[in-house]
This record gives sequence, C-alpha cells and structure tokens, in this order.
Amino acid sequence: MKISVIGAGYVGLVTGGCLAAIGHEVICTDNDAAKIKTLEAGRLPIYEPGLDSVVATARKEGRLTFTANPAGAVAAGDAIFICVGTPPLPNGDADLSAIDRVARTIATEARSTKLVIEKSTVPAQTGQELQRALSVYGRKSNLSFRVASNPEFLREGTAVEDFLHPDRIVVGVEDEASERQLHEIYRPVLERKFHCFAHGGKCADGPLPEWLVTTINSAELIKHASNSFLALKISYANMVSDLAERLGANVDEVLHAVGTDPRIGKSFFRAGIGFGGFCLPKDLQAFVHLAERSGVDFSMLKEAEEINHGRIHHFMEKIKRALWVVKEKQIGVLGLAFKPNTDDIRFSPAIDLISALVSEGAHVRAYDPEAMERARASFPHLKYAESAYDAADNAEALVIATEWDQFRHLDWDRVRESMARPLILDGRNLLSAREMKAYGFEYYSVGRPD
Ligand code: UGA
Repeated sequence: MKISVIGAGYVGLVTGGCLAAIGHEVICTDNDAAKIKTLEAGRLPIYEPGLDSVVATARKEGRLTFTANPAGAVAAGDAIFICVGTPPLPNGDADLSAIDRVARTIATEARSTKLVIEKSTVPAQTGQELQRALSVYGRKSNLSFRVASNPEFLREGTAVEDFLHPDRIVVGVEDEASERQLHEIYRPVLERKFHCFAHGGKCADGPLPEWLVTTINSAELIKHASNSFLALKISYANMVSDLAERLGANVDEVLHAVGTDPRIGKSFFRAGIGFGGFCLPKDLQAFVHLAERSGVDFSMLKEAEEINHGRIHHFMEKIKRALWVVKEKQIGVLGLAFKPNTDDIRFSPAIDLISALVSEGAHVRAYDPEAMERARASFPHLKYAESAYDAADNAEALVIATEWDQFRHLDWDRVRESMARPLILDGRNLLSAREMKAYGFEYYSVGRPD
C-alpha cells in the first residue's frame, strides 16, 4: 500500500520505517527541512536502537523516501498517518495546532480519497474535529476523507520492537472500509509475516498481537487512559517506596511480590526518581484537563502528578543527608536521558536532579552514553564528563540518575579509588546495596534499607 507519514519525529520515523519494513511504499515528510536533509543524507536525527538498519534497508530497497514537500507527500499516499507533535500548552492541555495545520494541508493538497489516521496522541473527540476540518477545507475538491485513530504504544528505546511485535493494535474507526484498510496495512504484523530485522530475519515466537477495533473516541481515550495508568502505577510504587524507607522494608522485594499477582503485574512497577519523557507527564496533564472539561473529577491523577513532582525533592534530601553540605561539592552524575536506551532528555528526571544540585551550589559533572549531544545543546553551561569514570573522578558523590546497563558493569574498584569520597546515591535502584558495600562504598538507594 502507498502510505504517507506526516511528521518525522520519534513516532513518525518509527512508524514510517517499520511500515516500509513490512512491505509498504512509504513517503515521510516533516516541516523541519533540516531534519529531512539529515534523513536524505542517510543519518537519523534521533538515537533509537534498531531504527538505523530498518530505515537504511527500506531506503535501499526503495520503499522509504523522505520529502520536505508536504503537498507531494499528501498526494502520494492512499493512507496518511499523522504523527506530528502535540506538546503541552502552558495550561497543560495538548496543543493541537500541528494537527489542524496538517488537516488543512491534506484537505487542500489531496487529489484522491484518503484514509487519514491520527497516530499522534490527542484528547478524545479530536477525530471529530479532524473530520470537520477536512470537510471544511476540502469542500472545493469534493473528495471524501475517512478518519481513523490508531494510537501508538511505542516506548522510546524499544520502539522498533514495539511496532513490529506489539501486544495489541488499536484501531478506532467509524466505517468498515477504514477497518479493512488498516487491517491490510497491519496484516504482516498481525500474521507476523515480514523479514524481522531484530531477530536475524526470523520473528520470535509468542502470542500474535490482538486486533482491537473500537470507535474513534474510544481509541483516543485508550491512549490517554493507558499512559495515565502507567503514571499512576509508578507514583504508587514511589509511595510504597517512601513507606518502605520509613518502616525498614525493601521496596524491590515488596513490589516484586505484589506484582507477581497477574492482576497487578511486575512490569512498570519500579520506584526511583520518578517518571519523565515527552509522553507520560504531558499525557497525564492533558488527561486531567480533559476530565475537568468533561466535568469529571479525576483528582487521583493530579495526586500521581504531585507525587512525581516530589520525587526530586525527596532524593535531594537523601543527598543532603549523606553529604551534609552540598554547596561546592564535586558530584558526578551518571545519566541525562529520561530513561536508558534513548538520547531523549525532554522532561528528564536526571536533568531536574542536576538542576536541583546546581541550584544548591554543587559542582556537577554529568555523563550519559547517548544523550550528551542533546544535553550540550540545551544546557551548554553544564560540565560534562568523558566517561562514567571521568564523572566519578575526584567526586565526593556519584549519583545514578538513569539506569543505563553499562553503569551496572563499571569497574567499581577503579571508581572507588578515583573518588574523593566513595559515596554512591542510586536514584534508580540499579545496583545491589550488598555488592556496593562489599566494594567499600557508602551506598544509598530508593526505598531500600541503608
Ligand atoms: C510511554 C509509554 O510507556 C508508551 O507505551 C507510549 O507509547 C509512549 O509513552 C507514548 O505515549 O508515546 P516512553 O515515554 O518511551 O513510553 O517511556 P516509558 O518507558 O513509559 O518511561 C517513562 C518514565 O517512567 C521514564 O522516566 C522511566 O524511567 C519511568 N519509569 C518507568 C519508572 O520510574 N518506573 C517504572 O517502573 C517504569
């Protein structure tokens, strides 16, 4: 099928690359001409594991092209995926102006009937507005546009895998033709019949994805309800962690046992310095606003947000207790990205923690395996280390802010020897307290006995 993807950010690139990888002919556009240039030159503007080979192969085989010309992209596809950003407005609502702009472009540039699919995260009832905008701006062409919602559940860091081997595909449609077309688009994924890059050509075994057909309003609500529930789950884990700290219990043991009940589930149930990134915090806020506008008191979501805001303060208190005076102390920070396996620093708890340390007068030197370039661009005055060892060198404390796997496997004897004081503050419970103590560190983590 001929498919257009509008927006070449995390979602658009993964969607476009993977749709091409499963056999479709994809054209991808973005209003950032520099980004398109980068992509045309064979480079990726983001770090996302596996995406480089998916994009490179699809381009080599002629199934994926990039263009800075939105009109050309709109004209080319029978189905158009909208993957533009919906960033938060100052009041927390989602800014839908990019969706509106794309709707106008589609309506005026299309020369044939299109299925227009929202993949961007949008509040419920956006589909209705999109349909209206397409009809209003496309009235002269007499073309009919069908609208569908197909929310993404891609996690940064495993987005390619999540696209190709999802546990569910949700499609919100109002007519059978749209459902059929979407089913055809996803058939290779649903039947697991495509060349799987991640597993050397062969897909891993396991249950096939569920195909969930809903109304457009439900599909939009599913996305916000999913991300908000994940946020609630993390804030719950963090409150249990606070209680475990007070009562001398170990939060990891507690959450593991609680999560073993399949009704609760073990995944996404880790305590730490809170959730960040460009999705959970903004979707939670947007969902709260949607509820308020709809006259529903969903205050438990506000509570989850408050708890998350308090995480940095809570961890700073721990740092202060350990260091006594923070001012003028040399502190190495491991991690800048909002989570491992990405270079994304948007709404990163690691950055919030660094800001709190700097405002207390600490001398911070930070290191991240992938996010240094982005951090340097946004925070040019911060000091950066060459490596994890360099961050630890002469430091009076080493703080773990992002749980990159490589931080698990450092040469701890070397780290201890190079530090001015062998003190580790682990904001992600990455390391074992017993092992770190055996290495001779003073070690503090989250929700575990000191
Ligand atoms: C999130 C959702 O997990 C995806 O399903 C969704 O598709 C995506 O948003 C989106 O809306 O596009 P992502 O933003 O990539 O994905 O990040 P997550 O893996 O959800 O992690 C969010 C934050 O929660 C990170 O800062 C992470 O460190 C933190 N976290 C995660 C915890 O503190 N504890 C946990 O147990 C899990």
